[in-house]
Amino acid sequence: MSESLSALLYLVASICFIMALRGLSSPETARAGNVYGIAGMAIAILTTLSTPQVVSYWLIIVGVIIGGAIGTYISQRIHMTALPQLVAAFHSLVGLSAVCVAAAAFADPQAYGIGIKGAIYAESLVEMAIGLTIGAITFTGAVVAFAKLQGLVSGRPLVFPGQHILNAGIAIVIVLVILAFVASEAATAFWLLTALALAFGFLLIVPIGGADMPVVISMLNSYSGWAACGIGFTLSNSLLIITGGLVGSSGAILSYIMCKGMNRSIVNVILGGFGGESEAAGAGAGAGHGDRMVKSGSAEDAAFILKNAGSVIVVPGYGMAVAQAQHALREMADILKKDGVNVRYAIHPVAGRMPGHMNVLLAEANVPYDEVLELDEINRDFPSTDVAFVIGANDVTNPAAKTDRSSPIYGMPILDVERAKTVLFVKRSMASGYAGVENELFYRDNTMMLFGDAKKMCEEIVKALE
Ligand code: TAP
Repeated sequence: MSESLSALLYLVASICFIMALRGLSSPETARAGNVYGIAGMAIAILTTLSTPQVVSYWLIIVGVIIGGAIGTYISQRIHMTALPQLVAAFHSLVGLSAVCVAAAAFADPQAYGIGIKGAIYAESLVEMAIGLTIGAITFTGAVVAFAKLQGLVSGRPLVFPGQHILNAGIAIVIVLVILAFVASEAATAFWLLTALALAFGFLLIVPIGGADMPVVISMLNSYSGWAACGIGFTLSNSLLIITGGLVGSSGAILSYIMCKGMNRSIVNVILGGFGGESEAAGAGAGAGHGDRMVKSGSAEDAAFILKNAGSVIVVPGYGMAVAQAQHALREMADILKKDGVNVRYAIHPVAGRMPGHMNVLLAEANVPYDEVLELDEINRDFPSTDVAFVIGANDVTNPAAKTDRSSPIYGMPILDVERAKTVLFVKRSMASGYAGVENELFYRDNTMMLFGDAKKMCEEIVKALE
């Protein structure tokens, strides 16, 4: 295949990737976005395989078979709630491959057309050093993120005195070693840089608590994109440069959106120390209510209240995802709608554990898109709503975010469920949410707690409604 034809096809593939991102920005167009993404990737792979630089088809075929088999196996088994750690694991591989490409290019520069050993072009050395550094940071950072989310190590922030100074010191040494490497092309500088970047990735992520991990993963996603972009320059591959740039910038935008949803700054997230483990938070929270009274009800009570309501806003959260309650919930909503109740869904930007978590689950249960509204679109409707049906959500409804300056969630925009006439909370206990903060709303006069697993509770309400 001629160079100009492959350049053209790479351009077509890049446009497909841009269309894919555009499509994925809304549930209505997400399927079309996926199709664009698949088409772009197919064009990219076939074009690359047709270029004369391919040395061995066998190695590629074996790689595709092994990688494809592992990918298929994982995709069949993975639970939606485990997606953040899966993404972290995949990012670690992107980082590792950036390190491997840099090492291969350094060992055999001629094969990459970037000069000869001992006389690699200066600009290629810069690209190689940057790709290597970002790749190594992404690798160890993503491994730590995976281990924390998978529960292999504690999700608590690991902080120690002088941590930020140590990290700043390593960052400065990394820059100096990059300069030394570009000036000398010394193998010692290459491997020293690799070791420093690996250590930096580890140290950067250990102080970050479990609650901030999704932001970190999206940040690592962004890093892995920039690492791929760096490799693209080393390999003179325009497609890799464009897609790396797309992944890099979309990851950065996503991190920003998540931080905004929690009213935290990205610097505050990176400096770490926020949040503990959900288990720890949950265990302590039961005792939090002391002798204060809460009103609790049964599925029958809930069915009665819901049936007699004119309007209901459902607020889903992480617990709905854990319980996989979305199908039973939709069944419940269908019955209510048949009875003339106006049912809508309110989505908080950081409900669940990853961006769009609730939208995906509701779409899976075929909840009509026009009934699903974002925080800004629906928040003002709570005062005129009869029932706020909060299912497996907690932090995203907690008024402490508005009133308690000392609360770790202070400043986070919340869904004003307490302004509805009645608030129903479906959850298993009095335990707190991910941020480990007690929710004052449980004790309010207009709140009724529906203790139980979200899916079971919805099924029982459906039975009672029928
Ligand atoms: P959370 O505040 O974490 O609360 C979830 C609640 O679900 C828990 O209180 C838990 O109470 C309940 N639950 C768990 N399993 C359940 C089950 N099987 N059935 C019924 N209830 C169950 O969730 P949220 O309101 O969605 O808030 C999300 C939190 O994650 C926020 O703090 C947010 O900042 C953080 N976060 C989210 C993101 C993204 S992008 N979504 C990113 C970073 C951080 P019980 O144990 O009593 O049942």
